[in-house]
Amino acid sequence: MNWQPDSWRTFPILQVPEYPDQGVLNNVEQKLAEKPPLVFAGEVQNLRSQLGHVANGQGFLLQGGDCAESFAEFSADMIRDNFRVFLQMAVVLTFGASMPVVKIGRMAGQFAKPRSSDIEKVGDIELPSYRGDMINGIDFEAKDRIPDPKRLLRVYEQSASTLNLLRAFAQGGMADLTAVHDWTADFISDREEARRYAEIAERIDECLSFMRACGVTSQTTRALAETDFFTSHESLLLNYEEALTRQDTITDEKGWFATSAHMVWIGDRTRQLDGAHVEYMKGISNPIGLKCGPSLDPDDLLRLIDKLNPENTAGRLTLIARMGAAFVREKLTPLLKAVERQGSSVVWCCDPMHGNTVKASSGYKTRRVDDIFREVQGFFDAHDEVGTYPGGLHFEMTGKNVTECVGGIIEVTEEKLGDRYHTHCDPRLNAGQALELAFLIADLLKRRRDQSSRFQRAG
Ligand code: PEP
Ligand code: CO
Repeated sequence: MNWQPDSWRTFPILQVPEYPDQGVLNNVEQKLAEKPPLVFAGEVQNLRSQLGHVANGQGFLLQGGDCAESFAEFSADMIRDNFRVFLQMAVVLTFGASMPVVKIGRMAGQFAKPRSSDIEKVGDIELPSYRGDMINGIDFEAKDRIPDPKRLLRVYEQSASTLNLLRAFAQGGMADLTAVHDWTADFISDREEARRYAEIAERIDECLSFMRACGVTSQTTRALAETDFFTSHESLLLNYEEALTRQDTITDEKGWFATSAHMVWIGDRTRQLDGAHVEYMKGISNPIGLKCGPSLDPDDLLRLIDKLNPENTAGRLTLIARMGAAFVREKLTPLLKAVERQGSSVVWCCDPMHGNTVKASSGYKTRRVDDIFREVQGFFDAHDEVGTYPGGLHFEMTGKNVTECVGGIIEVTEEKLGDRYHTHCDPRLNAGQALELAFLIADLLKRRRDQSSRFQRAG
């Protein structure tokens, strides 16, 4: 295969910004190409192998974080809070479903957004759309909306420091299971989700005391003291990805790795079979994701799979279904059947966010927690019908107490959306809503497991 990191440049491409000055852009790309990689091939291989287990039904993928990271909402507290909610969700799933959970953040690189329209109109004024802090500024001012290549360097720097802190949290003691009680954010501590979580934390404590008595502690056993946490983003700006695509010099594996994150995915708007994004992704060795929206035809999906995972490696390809609550059964089932018939090994992951975005009467873009839950339920039902494995969840969340999605146990009403609506792009679940979602999925996984063990006993 004579694929090169820049092969995509001769293919048709969508969603690329128009930079006013190519000279500045080339200069930035050159600088990026000289930077150290953000991740190491050994970690990427580890993730691929963990996802291989998920593809075989022996684990669950939890992938989430911000819709769009931003330069403004960047602080140690924000990273800590997001990481904490992640840990809580993972505990609920690991404990509830007795399954290893593979944790991948939409973090440390999730800065570029595909847009449905090139133009944003406010009153009589039209400006180019905001495309994420990696490209232009969010303020509705002509000067802010001009794409600026220097933003790519800032993304690299912010991703590097975010990743540094995430690694420190994951391995430096914060993820130690003995700290399981400390992960609840203050603003949800008096709520129903927090009470259910505290029950699990109690039971984990009991298990840990028993294990301590047997001589197993976080000092003796790494798995109790640390966790693996990986990063991912939509691979939208291929010039950025190209500059960070490297051949590994340490492990034995030949080939090219995207080193901007452990996993990258192709968005629903850029998954054309003969387009630049698919061309780039086919050549890298990372685990990759492919968003599957309601317009994806089963035959096209099979062609995409052939191109993206020709050797049918388990863990290489995660299909992220985002159909919308109303269509999930009808649209997903034919895809599941086609992939099953072809014998392709994939992780099926449910993104219940992107097919459920609506406009509230107040004008805010929002999502209803009920729709999100209904899509998850429909995703599980479709898998039950076809006999395939629902292997993961892809979600947008923040550890902050935002009011962006409507619903939840402590209800965010449409009237309250304006209270703390901070997202730079899509509405995110807040910590309480995210935890509720984790409980729902743990219940669904547990029910599946109980059914299959009853079935085995009966057989
Ligand atoms: C996203 O994940 O933020 C996104 C834009 O998703 P999709 O490509 O599925 O629309
Ligand atoms: Co989004």
